[in-house]
Amino acid sequence: MKLLKNAALLLLVIFVGMQFYRPDKNQTQGDHTTEFIKETNPPKDVKVILEQTCYNCHTHNTEYPWYNNIAPVSYWLADHVKDGKKHLNFSTWNTYELKKKDHKFEELIEEVQEGEMPLKEYT
Ligand code: HEC
Repeated sequence: MKLLKNAALLLLVIFVGMQFYRPDKNQTQGDHTTEFIKETNPPKDVKVILEQTCYNCHTHNTEYPWYNNIAPVSYWLADHVKDGKKHLNFSTWNTYELKKKDHKFEELIEEVQEGEMPLKEYT
């Protein structure tokens, strides 16, 4: 029983300690997606979906939910954003070569068709 109590106490200390470490936020001023939108000119409803669901992990600007203030959630989110941007970043769309853009669109269709994006945890 005492062991259990100590373990619980240790976990609590770790949890509280974690709250002091906050990953940097992925938030950059300005509209970075103008180029992407200009080039692809998506229908309005698609644009809304992109803005509300995909931009959070695939641009330089994330809108964080309140629970991002709680570690370790903030660590997971930061990780997903970092990984998401590495694979596809609408903010840097204009730096992609034509071939890469083509490929990313193929991937995009595939991900959405297979229900892989947005990540399950966020739907
Ligand atoms: C919570 C973060 C998150 C959200 C929201 C999200 N993604 Fe992703 N996305 C990722 C991560 C992480 C990866 C890389 C790992 C993987 O493929 O599972 C990725 C990979 C991708 C890839 C693959 C790119 C490549 O070339 O490998 C495409 C395409 C993609 N996402 C499209 C989308 C679309 C479209 C949406 C909105 C409907 C979306 N994502 C929403 C995190 C996210």
